[in-house]
Amino acid sequence: MTILNNISLKPYNTFGIDVTAKHFVSVKNVAQLKSILALEQYPEKFILGGGSNMLLTKDIDALVIHIDLKGITITSKDNSSVIVKSGAGENWHEFVLWCLDHDFGGIENLSLIPGNIGTAPIQNIGAYGVEIKDVFESCEALHIKTQNIKTFTNADCNFDYRNSIFKQKLKGEYIITNVSLKLSTVHHSIKTNYGAITNELERLKVKTPEIQDISKAVINIRESKLPNPKIIGNSGSFFKNPVISKAQFNTLKDNFPEIPNYVVSANEVKIPAGWLIEHAGFKGKHFGDYGVHKNQALVLVNYGKAKGSDIFDLSKLIQSTIKRIFNISLEVEVNII
Ligand code: EPU
Repeated sequence: MTILNNISLKPYNTFGIDVTAKHFVSVKNVAQLKSILALEQYPEKFILGGGSNMLLTKDIDALVIHIDLKGITITSKDNSSVIVKSGAGENWHEFVLWCLDHDFGGIENLSLIPGNIGTAPIQNIGAYGVEIKDVFESCEALHIKTQNIKTFTNADCNFDYRNSIFKQKLKGEYIITNVSLKLSTVHHSIKTNYGAITNELERLKVKTPEIQDISKAVINIRESKLPNPKIIGNSGSFFKNPVISKAQFNTLKDNFPEIPNYVVSANEVKIPAGWLIEHAGFKGKHFGDYGVHKNQALVLVNYGKAKGSDIFDLSKLIQSTIKRIFNISLEVEVNII
């Protein structure tokens, strides 16, 4: 375990922003993590997981601790399910593929989401009708100040849409070291209620889909809409889909009759932020080295050497324009550093 100085974080964030970490270290196990956290000569520490949900707007004047805890194990089994435990540093999609190889079901709809398994519960990753909370059994996390390990059950995590206790009350207090998911081994529950999956399965001529077919369909859909961060830097959805009142929705509908919506509760409606951003004229727009993706307006992109602060300024412009046109406040989903 070597502490390096003045390291570019470009390979460590999916936006591909080139900022410098004053000090940098990768930790491979919990003992290393504990000893690094105890180092008093580096009072400022910054925890880095998969780097898939952050926009770096400045150099990091701290010791960046890259969580590289690996290992996947089956910790228990019954007639219909398994508990699979994974180190926080495993890549999420590779973990999904490992589960599909073992015919473990439950996360196939979450194929190809960038990032690591340790950060997935923080924002309760979700796509195509499934969220990690649906299969989450527990996780272990290290309390940074006391170095105690605590187990969080599903209920402890307060999961919500792109939200959890780790983004709210306990923000910055814990480092997730491993995550356990409960996955099915027989009678998989196939979730195709999301229209795009049904259409893709039809195109693939699959009549009775297996979990592996669902994964393939999701991969195809994501590849057709979302930019591959290895080619075009991005952080997935930059904003959350806003929830507005039914009364506000009815007023909006008078001016924009075609506005898409999903009913959330008796009084609330969710609007796709991508639609709002597209109809405000931003979709596919280039501003030098950064812009708004051409196939999904919810995704801001770095075409090469963009600065995080440029992308942040663009997000502010989008927010103020959406507020002016639709009177809706868009909430940022990624962490701005
Ligand atoms: N839409 C547009 N223009 C766009 C994009 C979307 O009009 O440029 C409208 C269309 O009406 C479309 C609807 O928005 O039918 C929904 O679009 P999509 O299916 O792409 O889903 P989303 O609501 O834009 C959410 C998640 C994605 C997730 C997809 C699929 C959020 C913030 N985003 O996007 O998550 O993959 O659903 O389940 O909830 C991520 O979090 O990084 C992410 C990519």
